[in-house]
Amino acid sequence: MTELKLAIQETSAFIQAAGVGPVEFGLILGSGLGELADEIEDKVVVPYHEIPHFPVSTVVGHAGQLVYGTLSGKKVLAMQGRFHFYEGHSMQTVTYPVRVMKALGAHSMVVTNACGGVNESFAPGDLMLITDQINFTGTNPLIGPNDDEIGPRFPDMSNAYTPAYQEVAKEVGAANGLHLQEGVYMGFSGPTYETPAEIRFARGIGADAVGMSTVPEVIVAAHCGLKVLGISCITNLAAGMQANLNHEEVVATTERVKGEFKDLVKKTLAAL
Ligand code: HPA
Repeated sequence: MTELKLAIQETSAFIQAAGVGPVEFGLILGSGLGELADEIEDKVVVPYHEIPHFPVSTVVGHAGQLVYGTLSGKKVLAMQGRFHFYEGHSMQTVTYPVRVMKALGAHSMVVTNACGGVNESFAPGDLMLITDQINFTGTNPLIGPNDDEIGPRFPDMSNAYTPAYQEVAKEVGAANGLHLQEGVYMGFSGPTYETPAEIRFARGIGADAVGMSTVPEVIVAAHCGLKVLGISCITNLAAGMQANLNHEEVVATTERVKGEFKDLVKKTLAAL
């Protein structure tokens, strides 16, 4: 057995022993969006620091625990706080929880994030359905030996964000009067925000939003065959499109729209 598989087995066994049952949907909750986990019913909470092979999240605004239970009638395992490449974690570590979700039975993953709007028709506070991504992190979580039992050496990324899930989210948004933007998420390593020149470049190559997460997790989801729904909260306009950027604004915007965000995710989850 590969080292990776052994670690996944140990982690999964620990999480199951803590009371986590079969998972349908893994949820990755981004900056300021973690409150959704508070709405999960019949909760089992497992702090990251107790879980073997799990690192500890260091970012302010990320609680750092798994929350299992029922949300919108589905069995979910939510990550309240995620791991970022810019924290110094390897890409393998950043994406490890996705592999664990899969091992615990998940067939799908809902991934969320806070990001900067590049598309000039976006406004802070908009929610964006992610239709595709650009990996601009400079690396890839699948670099290294491949375990063919987990996934293929050269995964197809043509439908990394499951088209049928996008249709459901759009229908749910329209039925509930939620204005949902759509677009391509471009992932940078961070931790700097981008420069105005990088944002002009991003727009030129087809990005609608930029951020520092999500891309590696979705690559690993594609690798291990998880369906994906991605929803971004546009917390600010990207560099050069507004006076300056700061984390306080990112947090303030997620606070402002979290009600709408939670509504969209819960109703979409119910319809999936
Ligand atoms: N750039 C990168 N990441 C972000 C941004 C941004 O403008 N806003 C929130 N996360």
